[in-house]
Amino acid sequence: MAKMWGGRFKKELAENAKAYSYSLAVDQALLEYDVQASCAHVQMLGRQKIISAAEAHKIVKGLKAIGKEYADTDLTKFATKYEDIHSFIQAKLEAKIGPAAKKMHTARSRNDLVITATKLYLKENSTAIIGKLVMLQKALVRCADKYKEVIIPGLTHVQHAQVVLLAHHILSYVEMLERDKTRFANALELCDELPLGSGSISGTTLPIDRAYVAKQLGFKRVSKNSMDAVSDRDTLVEFLSACAIFFMHVSRLSEDLILWNSQEFGFIELSDEYSTGSSLMPNKKNPDMLELCRGRAGAVYGNLISLLVTMKGLPMAYNRDMQEDKKPLFETVDLTRATLDVLSGLIMTTTVNTSRCMLAVHDSYLYATDLLDYFVERGCAFADAHTLVGKIIMHSQQNGKDLAFFSLNDFKRFFPKTDKKVFECFKPERSIARKNSIGATGNHSVARRIQYWKRTLR
Ligand code: ARG
Repeated sequence: MAKMWGGRFKKELAENAKAYSYSLAVDQALLEYDVQASCAHVQMLGRQKIISAAEAHKIVKGLKAIGKEYADTDLTKFATKYEDIHSFIQAKLEAKIGPAAKKMHTARSRNDLVITATKLYLKENSTAIIGKLVMLQKALVRCADKYKEVIIPGLTHVQHAQVVLLAHHILSYVEMLERDKTRFANALELCDELPLGSGSISGTTLPIDRAYVAKQLGFKRVSKNSMDAVSDRDTLVEFLSACAIFFMHVSRLSEDLILWNSQEFGFIELSDEYSTGSSLMPNKKNPDMLELCRGRAGAVYGNLISLLVTMKGLPMAYNRDMQEDKKPLFETVDLTRATLDVLSGLIMTTTVNTSRCMLAVHDSYLYATDLLDYFVERGCAFADAHTLVGKIIMHSQQNGKDLAFFSLNDFKRFFPKTDKKVFECFKPERSIARKNSIGATGNHSVARRIQYWKRTLR
């Protein structure tokens, strides 16, 4: 029997309707989770004496064998024969163990089964993704630690603003990824609820033990409303939204690294392992991996929107529309995992060009705020000091004279109380060293944060 229904039908499903609705090519990714869910369900049926212990044993053994047999097989070749992964497993089980297989689907529906298998898949992948996020954080922290003395221009509006430690910039992504971890952990928590036992919509008259199944499958809780349980896809949406936000961070990190790797910045050099060449221009060494990471954010956002729109306005409870959750989910999981692996490898092998960074901070305007603070420390009101420095800069621009070449008298003309300590303002190390309040770019502040991450991510 290739189909799990049909008693009331006289005619076969039309060929084009089959092709339109069959989902094995996609939902084959659920094979191992469907097998897990079915094993737990059948063991419960045996314990509850809904089927005999011998039957339960036989079914579980058969299921495990099928799980192993097809674990590495591309089931696409069966995609025109079986409606979905559940029908495939049911048919293979019948072929393997005979009539006992017909009892496997007792007291359940594909509606509660499919979302149970999907949640098992999601739980495993959320956990794996959190682990990979830690790997990426570690790679970033390692880089920050290795180059912790390096100073670069901090940018706002992609314009020189104030100097910062390169490590501070890198650690900003570690903070973002930490929030991503929280979001994935939250998605995981919401997902940690067993739908199986909800049947098609209303539960079952048979004496099942849902708590037992939940325990077997490692779900924290059992769902409390069968209609909600079979039609909840918002836990998937939550996960996809965590992925989308993560990819927003990925795209920003990629963009920063692409800029830093450019000839204009030259702050970093990507390793050969994570760069590509041009088929025409022999000189090129391109950051394609980062461009792909940045670009794939598009697919991930699209997948989130795809499921949101699919779910919008669906009446209770299960509707076949929901089958469309899998493609965006699976694609997003694969993209997220692969992106994390590539980014971690890329960061681990990237080198920082410290001399180019040093050159870049030789821009006296980067220290305009330090100069402003200098005047404030000497009794000038902030707003007056702001105007004063503005005037100094205007003077510098009009006369083509860099602030670094101003004499003491040049400064005194603007602020008579200026002393020679004013020249200290233009030292990058001093500017950094003085910014040690919590969260600032000072050496102590950043070193403390590096130590914190090293401890926390161990
Ligand atoms: N392939 C279906 C899905 O992924 C399984 C549930 C089918 N249920 C149904 N009543 N047609 O959603």
